[in-house]
Amino acid sequence: MFNLNTFIRWCATVFLVSACIIVIKSTAAEQSIMTSVPQLLSDPFLQLPTENSVRVVWFTEFAGSGHTVSYGQDFSQKAIANTIKLSRTREDRQSKTSIEYKQPTKRNIWRHEAEVTKLDSNTRLPYRVTSVREDGKTISSGEFTLAAKPKPGTPLKILLTSDHQLKPMTAANLQKVVETVGRVDGVFFAGDLVNIADRASEWFDDLRKGAFFPCLQGRAKYQLEKNGVKTTYTGGEIIQHAPLYTAIGNHEVMGRLERTDSLGDEFNDAYPRQAAIAQLLKQKRDRSIKDYSYNTDTYEEIFTLPKSDRGGKKYYAVTFGDVRLVVLYATNIWRSPSLDASAKGKYQERAQDIDNPDTWGYGQHIFEDIFRGSPQYNWLEDELNSPQFQKAKYKVVMLHHPPHSLGDNIVPAYTNPVQIIDTDKKNRIPVRYEYPIKQDYLIRDVVPLLEAASVQLVFYGHSHLWNRFISNEMNFLETSNVGNSYGAAIGEKRRDVPVGDRNYVITGDPNGLEPAIPTIAPLLDKNGQKLPYLASNDITAFSILNTATGSVVSYRFDTLKPNSEVIKFDEFKLKLKANIS
Ligand SMILES: [Fe+2]
Repeated sequence: MFNLNTFIRWCATVFLVSACIIVIKSTAAEQSIMTSVPQLLSDPFLQLPTENSVRVVWFTEFAGSGHTVSYGQDFSQKAIANTIKLSRTREDRQSKTSIEYKQPTKRNIWRHEAEVTKLDSNTRLPYRVTSVREDGKTISSGEFTLAAKPKPGTPLKILLTSDHQLKPMTAANLQKVVETVGRVDGVFFAGDLVNIADRASEWFDDLRKGAFFPCLQGRAKYQLEKNGVKTTYTGGEIIQHAPLYTAIGNHEVMGRLERTDSLGDEFNDAYPRQAAIAQLLKQKRDRSIKDYSYNTDTYEEIFTLPKSDRGGKKYYAVTFGDVRLVVLYATNIWRSPSLDASAKGKYQERAQDIDNPDTWGYGQHIFEDIFRGSPQYNWLEDELNSPQFQKAKYKVVMLHHPPHSLGDNIVPAYTNPVQIIDTDKKNRIPVRYEYPIKQDYLIRDVVPLLEAASVQLVFYGHSHLWNRFISNEMNFLETSNVGNSYGAAIGEKRRDVPVGDRNYVITGDPNGLEPAIPTIAPLLDKNGQKLPYLASNDITAFSILNTATGSVVSYRFDTLKPNSEVIKFDEFKLKLKANIS
């Protein structure tokens, strides 16, 4: 017979034993961490230089105390760091880590940032960082160099890069940057830094040894196998010495929080803000709109960037030497081109989801408005009219989404999806999306503004290839064949788009420009014809903006021939306006 008292006693015993096991396990884990030698989770890197200061940022897996930067002659000067805990970094089943995770699990990571002040312009000083763990043990980084922001007139080499995403050739690419041009003075990164922004290991310690920070800090050990030959690439020691300015790509944006058991699914579950408001009202749910739509929290917690009055870190402008860099937040969610009834894609909802908008994808919705009259557009207009912009020798605009490209990801047009609902449900696909090419916001609204403001270079990524275009003396460069390629839609290679619809261009640049042939050493096709692009999973490319000469130089390296030289294959000059010399 069931005895309630016995049952309660049994439950209490089970609870106590479980609690003890958890306490013993976590204490053992903490002791094992504490008995080990403390480690930094990353090398330090430089952020937000001003005329007389620069921030130094690094990460640990312990809160610790006394985190400091030592710098100057004999490292005798010190700057104390402020520490925060990253709020959304997690690991999951797909994480490549030494621990196996069954579901998304919080990973405790602390970020330290110290501001080094009273720097003389154009003076470079040695520095290192030190962290003290709770048990008093200390760990210091290697020695690097820091500097305040370069003055106008200082010759600079700036790396133009994007779309690293732990792809196979990224470490090789960045290693070749340093071997070819030495230490760069700055890095402009046009988005897609990792694949899943909240997956901590992609930033720090993915077991494939090609995570974001190791690659940009020369601590990667990525093994690339080509034709049976294995070569290990280290990446480049770059951002310990050079400030990094980034734009948000689609991979920096996470979707609705904690609704799935996979961070990949959470990444794909970005939901438009307006739809989120409607759903929260309908469901009477007490969740923030951000948590029920999308966020860039981890990206914004990791980086200290310039801020604009309207966009914060999401879109901003900064003067760096002779360059005025304008960074836009221009990216949308990527969805499948499939027209299969089971696909939640660019062009449709799944047939099974018709009565449940909470599960809809809303096509390739845009994360931040940029059409004429939107806050970002108005800010851009103000920025282009500002004295800082107008007096700059070089005017560069960086964004993630391509205005001109041979790549796949330029189609469909960059515009809010037009939703078409078949209320009679007679169609196989009752909810569809269209993207009128004439309403591409970048081409219709943004590019004319940039042209009128005499921007010399528009730099972007997203399609993982190298190609460039020229229109009215404005240069467009996509130098994103860093880690892999998705190919160039030209000749026989066609985009996967709905057939017979003029809104979706199958080959070439949908926005009407012919790609420029590389000026020095273009690749050749099988008939010996010069190719106006580089789209390869063997050959990786990078570009350097050299402000001494006003030129943008692109290089390629063939990973099929690990001992081969890097080849300079393209160079073009930014045209100076007559009133500037
Ligand atoms: Fe992208």
